[in-house]
Amino acid sequence: AETIIFDTDPGIDDAMALLLAHAHPAIHLKAITTVYGNGTIEDCTRNACYLNQKFGMGAEVVRGAAGPLRRPPNGPTVVVHGEHAMGDVVAPADTPIEIDERPAYQYLCDAVNAQPGEITLVAVGPLTNLALALQHDPSIADKVKQVVVMGGAFGTRGHHGNVAPFAEANIHDDPDAADQVFTARWSVTIVGLDATHEAFFSGAYLDALKADGGEAGDFIHAVSRYYLAFYSDKLGLDGCHVHDPSAVAYVIDPTLFTTRPGPVRVVCDGPAIGMTLQKADGKRYADDEFSDFRDQDVCINVDEARLLTLYRDAI
Ligand code: BDR
Ligand code: CA
Repeated sequence: AETIIFDTDPGIDDAMALLLAHAHPAIHLKAITTVYGNGTIEDCTRNACYLNQKFGMGAEVVRGAAGPLRRPPNGPTVVVHGEHAMGDVVAPADTPIEIDERPAYQYLCDAVNAQPGEITLVAVGPLTNLALALQHDPSIADKVKQVVVMGGAFGTRGHHGNVAPFAEANIHDDPDAADQVFTARWSVTIVGLDATHEAFFSGAYLDALKADGGEAGDFIHAVSRYYLAFYSDKLGLDGCHVHDPSAVAYVIDPTLFTTRPGPVRVVCDGPAIGMTLQKADGKRYADDEFSDFRDQDVCINVDEARLLTLYRDAI
């Protein structure tokens, strides 16, 4: 099985993704590192502890960054994920906070150095912890097996943003961190809106998970109610896009996705702040802020039917 460290801001779809990582035999969930994003770092860390304990995941939980590298936080996305970030599911205030004493970036460096070549990082929140880990010990870039990020929007299928016209939420929360992660000398696969907006958990699909999916299916249904109300009120859709579970699915079966190689940068200022760009033309320009960096793989499509089957079978 692939040993993963799951870096997350739980989060409704983060919870859905964690349950896939826990359920699927191809994944060994070593640790959950938390980050602000969908909620405060306190709420996201409590939610991670709650999920880990409730489902007996046996992962180490580690608290991460409370805000972006060098700009004021955008603040929790209450309208999408609710007051405490898991919609109508509120982890009890007295949930035991059993966490490693190290900050997430330090834990990431230690874990990667202890098992060189073996650890896959799956990041589904703002990329602050990963950027801090790279700053702390750049050599981890050579020792990580692979990095899979849910974030960004490259417009290849007409999806450009979700929290701003040209930015996806995880990247928009900390563009500086994302640019550092994408330009480091490790191999990153980016599962952004180009793929995740092509996969949909319909209301009926979630009802079926509740009917057949035992405790996990029941929980996914419960946690998705608030999310579905948002999708219905704001977007007129009965169901939700499949963001964070897609990053876990990529680790399990990369053949579900079509990828495109090329260096990736993030716009860090101005009206397109948080926009992700991939240079895929193979040309060299006089003024070239891309070509000195290695190619990363951007997912430009997903086999929705096979993804939905994989998820349902695992749950
Ligand atoms: C991403 O932003 C968050 O709201 C979700 O958890 C997901 O990671 C989608 O843009
Ligand atoms: Ca997330």
